[in-house]
Amino acid sequence: MNSAIRFILNSEEITLADFSATETLLDYLRLRRRLTGTKEGCAEGDCGACTVLVGRLVEGRLVYESINACIRFLGSLHATHVVTVEHLAAKDGTLHPVQQAMVDCHGSQCGFCTPGFVMSLYGLWLSNEEPDRSEIEIALQGNLCRCTGYEPIIKAAEQVSLTRPSALFDPLERDRADIMAKLWTLKSSSDTIAVEKDGARSIIPGSVEALAGILADAPQATIVAGATDVGLWVTKQMRRLDPVVFINHLTELQRIESDDTGITFGAGVTYAQALETLQMEIPAFGDLIDRIGGAQVRNAGTIGGNIANGSPIGDTPPPLIALGASVTLRSVEGSRRLPLEDFFIAYGKQDRRPGEFVEEILVPHPHEDAFFSVYKISKRRDEDISALCGAFYLMIDAEGCVGDIRIAFGGMAATPKRAQAVEAALLGQPWSWQTVAEASLAFDEDYQPLTDWRASAEYRSLTAKNLLTRFFLETAGAPVHLQRFEMEEV
Ligand SMILES: Cc1cc2nc3c(=O)[nH]c(=O)nc-3n(C[C@H](O)[C@H](O)[C@H](O)COP(=O)(O)OP(=O)(O)OC[C@H]3O[C@@H](n4cnc5c(N)ncnc54)[C@H](O)[C@@H]3O)c2cc1C
Ligand code: FES
Ligand code: FES
Repeated sequence: MNSAIRFILNSEEITLADFSATETLLDYLRLRRRLTGTKEGCAEGDCGACTVLVGRLVEGRLVYESINACIRFLGSLHATHVVTVEHLAAKDGTLHPVQQAMVDCHGSQCGFCTPGFVMSLYGLWLSNEEPDRSEIEIALQGNLCRCTGYEPIIKAAEQVSLTRPSALFDPLERDRADIMAKLWTLKSSSDTIAVEKDGARSIIPGSVEALAGILADAPQATIVAGATDVGLWVTKQMRRLDPVVFINHLTELQRIESDDTGITFGAGVTYAQALETLQMEIPAFGDLIDRIGGAQVRNAGTIGGNIANGSPIGDTPPPLIALGASVTLRSVEGSRRLPLEDFFIAYGKQDRRPGEFVEEILVPHPHEDAFFSVYKISKRRDEDISALCGAFYLMIDAEGCVGDIRIAFGGMAATPKRAQAVEAALLGQPWSWQTVAEASLAFDEDYQPLTDWRASAEYRSLTAKNLLTRFFLETAGAPVHLQRFEMEEV
């Protein structure tokens, strides 16, 4: 067992044995290394002021992704290359093309958000040769600017896309081969790493098998994948965690495979990694991914984390349940698979036994004639948590009747939950306005939602009904009379 993590910070190789289980990368950079170009705004992954790039080896390639340093723990950085804004300009002070474009296009006023924007644009520039406007906007979803306005920043992104990354002025291109070789050496050791400070342990398992063993010995351990939930337990709730087991480096948990049974996503697959497959195979699900957090959150947050957190308002459980997904749980005892809908037992309670972790999720291929839609309702389009999220899977038989229907909602109950009464009212009936109008009333049997700061119970109930109407209109194929359920008193 090793007792230090090793990573590269800009040009420096770091061996770190002295860090606490919940020390954030942002604190390390600013307080310990005085790399204060990386700013702290919200400390919860929302504003992007703390954006840095993290490079890692993925299937033999070196991939850099933007992440929020404020909610990333040091223990998750073994065998990575951390790049901060200080790394961009040349030693003689010549600005990097991304920085120069921000100057030329007047992309900065007070400047507090600027390093974060520069790093997001840098990540985009490295990964996308010719981003169009919508790709630029998606890359900047996780960065907030209060004074400049976004147009000059988007213009800067457009200007810089005309300059291609070249070893002449880009440090990551120049040093790519060297960094890959170093990361490869760090990654190839499969020893588990354990570090203890202030009475709390960070454990970085060398393999999935080792992870199972560690959880058997310490079932109370907190598993950390992307830390986009757990990070906030620490920065906002000041929770103390011990031990913390990091899993985001385990490539065995990052497989995406499509075969006859369906698409398998390892629990450690991030939203960014899942996007391409989902866009290709289940486009409506792919569109939802673009509305989860900002790019930095999608580069870190995992599907496994979104399920394991048991949240009633996580965005992926409703579509996964509507698609009939199952989840595999693993421990030293072996693996077991159960329908995802059975995993969620009650608020804060999942069918996960001590020592078990989420290993993978199997999503059956939707039938080629099936209709599938997912609707996320939130106050803002981007960077917002759902008030409710509804997913609909429908097969219409040869007689025009409902042959199969699965409806699942988040935000309507204490867990993500199917609308079984509505489904029963639809099954076998003609897919018609009348059926839909009558079946909608059964939503009141299925769900008694809460009122909270995101939405009132009444709003949630009638929005669920209207989403079924919308799904009907989108699938009926012919113009129909549109009837909405209205609020009685607004
Ligand atoms: C700014 C911001 C915006 C967000 N926007 C959205 C949004 O739009 N929609 C949405 O649904 N969520 C959103 N989230 C929440 C979060 O990104 C997701 O829930 C994400 O999927 C969590 O994954 P993670 O890998 O970061 O989990 P972590 O934070 O690492 O872990 C979350 C929980 O799951 C457990 N866990 C993780 N992996 C496993 C495993 N393999 N086995 C067992 N337990 C495990 C952890 O112990 C913890 O309890 C947002 C978060 C932030 C910070
Ligand atoms: S400080 Fe706001 S996202 Fe990190
Ligand atoms: S320039 Fe002031 S917040 Fe963006």
